Amino acid sequence: MKNSGNIIYHQGKVTKEDRYRVLGQKGLIVWLTGLSGSGKSTIAVETEKILNGMGKAVYRLDGDNIRFGLNSDLGFSEKDRFENIRRISEVCALFQDAGLIVIASFISPLAKMRQMAREKGKENFIEVYVKADLETCIKRDPKGLYCKALNGEIQEFTGISAPYEEPENPDLVLDTQSNSPEECVKMLVDKILEMSKLE
Ligand code: PPS
Repeated sequence: MKNSGNIIYHQGKVTKEDRYRVLGQKGLIVWLTGLSGSGKSTIAVETEKILNGMGKAVYRLDGDNIRFGLNSDLGFSEKDRFENIRRISEVCALFQDAGLIVIASFISPLAKMRQMAREKGKENFIEVYVKADLETCIKRDPKGLYCKALNGEIQEFTGISAPYEEPENPDLVLDTQSNSPEECVKMLVDKILEMSKLE
């Protein structure tokens, strides 16, 4: 860290528990990982809508969107993806501390990237594996990116020319091949309500 000797953490007088009380919920990071085309964004969008409708303070962060702004300087090398996830993890931790339910959907292809996000989120973090195999994602190809990657028009494409490590111990698996989007969203909403409940 730069300037490590010259900065001192400044403690406020309002704790995150104070903020949770005002919002009537615990802050929570819901980390969706999975291949491009697995269904992360679809599930995140619907889940956010349902929770918002229930009066929950919820905010969605999405890979494509964040790369337009905060992370517009980053590409898809392992180093850039790591930095992408590092910055997002910090943003998620701040939002969680503010009391929000944060739904973060990022491929986050390597276990060490997801571990970094989990360490930032501490006990208020759940890893959700949005599961669909590569063959299915190639068939779906909602943005035409697999076609381009297979033709060599996109380099370092996850699943084709860059790795994806399946989560070994996720808190929830949403299998989008054997469940409908509605079923996956219901499972996720139930899990979030349980985990963000104020005791
Ligand atoms: S990562 O690996 O977590 O840093 O990726 P992420 O920030 O989630 O961005 C993934 C979206 O970027 C588009 N895209 C690519 N994905 C993977 N590999 C390559 N090379 C690539 N180039 C562009 C793609 O639309 C991803 O969105 P999703 O929603 O996952 O399909």
